[in-house]
Amino acid sequence: MTDITKDMVYESVAPDDFDSMIELDRYEKRSTAFDHIIAATHDHFWDPLDKKYIDFSEPFDMENVQMMPDDQIFQLQVPYVLDHLEKTGQKIKFANEMQLWSFSSILHGEQGALNLSASLCHVLKDQGAQEYAANQTREEARHVTAFAQYIKVRWGRPRPCGTVLKQLLVDIIAAPEVYKKIIGMQMLVEGLAMGAFATGYKFNQDPLAKKLFQLVMTDEAFHHKFGKIWADRTIPRMSEDERNVVEDWAAHCFQSLLFNMGSPQQQAQMYRDFGLDPEKVIEGLTELRASGRTRARLKESTNIFRVLIKTLLKSGLITDRTRAFYATYVDMDELKAEGDRMIGDDIAEEGIEYLKAINFKARSEAGAVKVAAE
Ligand SMILES: [Fe+2]
Ligand SMILES: [Fe+2]
Repeated sequence: MTDITKDMVYESVAPDDFDSMIELDRYEKRSTAFDHIIAATHDHFWDPLDKKYIDFSEPFDMENVQMMPDDQIFQLQVPYVLDHLEKTGQKIKFANEMQLWSFSSILHGEQGALNLSASLCHVLKDQGAQEYAANQTREEARHVTAFAQYIKVRWGRPRPCGTVLKQLLVDIIAAPEVYKKIIGMQMLVEGLAMGAFATGYKFNQDPLAKKLFQLVMTDEAFHHKFGKIWADRTIPRMSEDERNVVEDWAAHCFQSLLFNMGSPQQQAQMYRDFGLDPEKVIEGLTELRASGRTRARLKESTNIFRVLIKTLLKSGLITDRTRAFYATYVDMDELKAEGDRMIGDDIAEEGIEYLKAINFKARSEAGAVKVAAE
């Protein structure tokens, strides 16, 4: 296998090589690199099935309230689509249906993250790194439960996974190479998720969605950090050839995610249900993209793809080889001058304070019960 390992913490074996896991010498070694993020997990513990943290029975008027504003919905930027929906009084319904598609993408992405982090347990050799990955697997499992529950109470049933996103998830889960997994998931899918959740937190009119985004972000912020630790320890020590391979993989993943956002072919039947001609919608979307409005939209600091490019740039995964590719979407100099703070970090930190208070109260109540019983 052709993995690129520059740090003992990310030393890997083939997924079916259990023999290496039970080597006696291996049990004596355990890195401390992730101890602080593993220990922090108790502070941001939450349970989607416990009303103390989140209550999925909170109602929301789906018929009359539009979850996200018009300018956050790409399809509504096509004049043909907007005119038709306004004339037929279906704009709110359409806008909320588009949210179902986006929550469904999130749900499938969370399932991908669960399987991906479980697959890391099979290839990472270090016990500390394994404990981190097992921990992340557990957190992704609660995200799957939470988003599945949210979709169930608001719409009933999720929509299928986009073909491009699905292919990316299949590739990174099956890949034996740690760099493919970490770049694909921790740096890009997780980075995209942080951006999307921050946007949802900011604009979604449903208080339950806001709460859900914030709780999930308290976990995701750490997952993204795991990717950053990998990048900091690995990328500066790579040979030029290795860096090129990794840089190309990052560009490939980025492109997949960008294309996934705009693959309306799968949504053709839904357009027809609203009385829209799918061909005309797709034509309008293509025109929009070509008109350079994508770059204008990516200028906004909360834009999710801008966040991804920034992550790659700061990690040294964008060089002159691929600079032009990303410069189609953002102003690279402006991006480089920005600070290191990740989008959504402040929302996650506020969420952790909220969870600490609930968890502290729960622990001290349990303690009081125990003392009373003694
Ligand atoms: Fe997640
Ligand atoms: Fe995650």
